[in-house]
Amino acid sequence: MPSTEAPAPRGAPPRAHRLRAPCTLCTLGALSSGWVAAALVVVSCSTPATPPPDAAPPAPPEAAAQDAAPASLQPAGWDDGLRLPVLEDLDPAPDVVEVRLEAKVAPITVGGQTVSMWTYEGALPGPVLRAKRGDRVVVHFKNSLPSPTTIHWHGLRVPNAMDGVPEVTQAPIPPGGTFDYELRVPDAGTFWYHPHVASGAQVGYGLYGAVVVEEPEPSRVVPASDELTLVLSDVSLTDAGALETPDATGGLGDYFGREGRPLVNGRVRASLKARPGLPQRWRVVNASRAHYAALELPGFDVYRLGGDVGLAEAARRLPFGIATVVPGERVELFVVPRGAPGQSIVATWNTVDRLHTTAPPEKTPVLDVALEGEPVVGRDLPPPQLAAFEPVAGVDASAPPARALAFVDDRGALSMTPAEMFTVRAGTSEVWTVTNLTGQDHPFHLHGFAFQVLDTGAGPPSQRELRDTVNVAARQRLTIAVPFDDRAGTWMFHCHILDHADVGMMGMFMVR
Ligand code: C2O
Ligand code: CU
Repeated sequence: MPSTEAPAPRGAPPRAHRLRAPCTLCTLGALSSGWVAAALVVVSCSTPATPPPDAAPPAPPEAAAQDAAPASLQPAGWDDGLRLPVLEDLDPAPDVVEVRLEAKVAPITVGGQTVSMWTYEGALPGPVLRAKRGDRVVVHFKNSLPSPTTIHWHGLRVPNAMDGVPEVTQAPIPPGGTFDYELRVPDAGTFWYHPHVASGAQVGYGLYGAVVVEEPEPSRVVPASDELTLVLSDVSLTDAGALETPDATGGLGDYFGREGRPLVNGRVRASLKARPGLPQRWRVVNASRAHYAALELPGFDVYRLGGDVGLAEAARRLPFGIATVVPGERVELFVVPRGAPGQSIVATWNTVDRLHTTAPPEKTPVLDVALEGEPVVGRDLPPPQLAAFEPVAGVDASAPPARALAFVDDRGALSMTPAEMFTVRAGTSEVWTVTNLTGQDHPFHLHGFAFQVLDTGAGPPSQRELRDTVNVAARQRLTIAVPFDDRAGTWMFHCHILDHADVGMMGMFMVR
């Protein structure tokens, strides 16, 4: 079975309402009308998946024939209000994921209003691209937008020619044009895709989607059926219910970053069911242009399992149940609802004081969690060891850094230094400092390579992990170690407040 969509639970009758990626052979007929149609078809596919070696005891025969995933104990239909469509894998080979992806204008209902937005496959957010670590991924992309575009595979270590940077790694794809992105996905984790042409405008119009790369052996943090992908984004609408023009707030918008109405998986206020004491694994992507998010889950125990490039070495409990995720960043959470069945919990998206105005956080309710079912005991802690971590080798953190990068604000003109392209030798690792010389926070994003934060200015970070996006607070200096492999070419780094990147808060280097 080529699909890597989380299968339906075993031990329960197959659930027709659940969106699952069906067996390729069964659905070839549905392909012409795209994933929407395929998703709506009730598929009865009896191809059994291979059970994991330590799978739960055998289920009743009729259920076992359906699926081999461990039983989910979540309430029935727990994620119906949030589950995202998944791009259908057109290639039956187990280690190849081949999908079609079209960018097009489509009507989207946002908070009861129908808005004409820019979408991938007519969905907001775009469908999830799912693969397993090591898979080859082929994306047949078609641009049906009125403007040129490209796709950047944020966080994936792709060949340079697939990085989606217009005029640098590829020509912009014109309206009506196509491009085949061919990549390998060498790392497990949660990533995302978005345009790199007029990024602030195009992402603001609705172009973003998650990429989930699973471990070939699914990790046992929670059963695969208890995982959820949450794409945080925002939308700016006029009073008449149209998309605001990307330059609506002029130079101030460029300088402070444009923020709109918070959305979770495209919804103004989403709903979810959870069982007290039973953990869920959330993969959270912040696809906003500029909107930092502090996701507050009152009444939950919240652990941070990892971030950009999958699981960290060990989980860390987040005080007050608040998980912060800055634009471009991902965070993986282990959330345990507390409370009695029948109770409901309102999760809020709190603002983060990235401009250092000392304003108290604004809290927007974004998710209603209904507690259902008998409380579960003894499942409320993440495994003590999540992943093996290899520190970046071949770097001397005590030597002077190879590069000193900085975010600069020259009387309102935002940029990064060095402004000139520099060269890095393929196959070496370097220590860089990234200093924020401005009065506002900026999320630093590096294309092509993941890095380890060695020092935050106040010692090493509390979790050891690789990442591609990290917040650099006003006046903060980070020290990072970057392992460069042999993927030669011109790569970029930039602020992931896209309004800032668009006015030039970015730089480039060449690996060769
Ligand atoms: Cu997600 Cu160059 O960015
Ligand atoms: Cu910035």
